[in-house]
This record gives sequence, structure tokens and C-alpha cells, in this order.
Amino acid sequence: MAERTFTIFKPDALRKGVQGHMLQRLLDEGFGVRGLKMARLSRLQAEAFYAVHRERPFFPELVDFMTSGPVIVISLERDNAVAHLRAVMGPTDSAKAPKDTIRGQFGTDIQCNAIHGSDSVENGLIETAFFFSGAETVGDAVAPSAAKKAVAAAPAWQANPLGRPPKGR
Ligand code: RTP
Ligand code: MG
Repeated sequence: MAERTFTIFKPDALRKGVQGHMLQRLLDEGFGVRGLKMARLSRLQAEAFYAVHRERPFFPELVDFMTSGPVIVISLERDNAVAHLRAVMGPTDSAKAPKDTIRGQFGTDIQCNAIHGSDSVENGLIETAFFFSGAETVGDAVAPSAAKKAVAAAPAWQANPLGRPPKGR
């Protein structure tokens, strides 16, 4: 069964106007689109989405960046989707990313790196549920029970689309 993952085209990519090229690259890589929409993250939503990084020195800047403009969120499906997306994205620092990767081609630096990709199947399900209700995605590759289980097991801050502040704040 094909695997699902989740991606965000970040505000820098939309400002550059390269979102069409990025989507074409993913289609060329064999990904199917199972859900797609634009969103504008609130600070609370960005803090919740990246709460795993809340103790990092770059966290406030990351939240500033992710709320600086609209994003495109996409549910993707492909064999080996999580690992393949991470490979096609390239490393976090766009300046060090090979030119044939999305970050190497469309990103700018370590922060403005054009694209997010889930780092595990479980996080992909959780992140998809953060942005999409069940009726907003198509296809049947994910058993609803698997998605429900992943979301139920997620920490509250990670599974809450309304942006409850991370613990301790
Ligand atoms: P992502 O979660 O967005 O797919 O990126 P990633 O796994 O490659 O990198 P991660 O370590 O999870 O960092 C999340 C995002 O934070 C910004 N960042 N800034 N200024 C810095 O040193 C720094 N380091 C990371 C980037 O936007 C990165 O994608
Ligand atoms: Mg990450």
C-alpha cells in the first residue's frame, strides 16, 4: 500500500512564486496529491506545529517566518513517501543543499528553505490531521483507524489545530 506524507510550501516559496514549480517537481517524482489548500498560520498554530523546537534558539524566528505569509499544505501519497520526500527536499540548509533538490533550487538559507516534510509516517498522519478534516482529503491509502490512532497518541500541542500553546507557556 502506498504511504502518505505531508508537506508545507513555506512563505518564502510563495513570495518567490515558485509554488507551481515545486508542485510539478513532486508530481514528476511520482507523488499523488490527496489534499491541497492554502493557509495562513496564526502564531499559536505555528508554535504548536513546531513545538518540538520550542527550546531552540531559532524558535521565535521560525514562528515569525512561518507566519510571515500564506503557505500551501499538501497531503501526498507515494511508495516510500516519507523518505522520498525528505530526499527530494534536501538538507535543512538550502545553501548547502544539492542544486537538484527542492531546497537547493528554491530555498535561500537555513531558515527560508521553501518546504517542510514530515519526518515519519506517524508525524505525517498527525500533521495532516492538524490541517485537514477527513472530508478534505481523498483516496483510501490510510486506514482511518491508523490515522485516528496516531492523532490520539500525539501530544496535545501537536494534534491541536486550534493552536493551544505548548506546555509550560
Ligand atoms: P522541516 O521540519 O521544516 O521539514 O525542516 P527540517 O526537518 O529539515 O529541519 P528542522 O530541524 O525540523 O527545523 C525546522 C525548521 O526550522 C528552521 N530552522 N532554522 N536558524 C536556524 O538555525 C534554523 N534551523 C532550522 C527551518 O525553517 C527548518 O526547516
Ligand atoms: Mg523537521
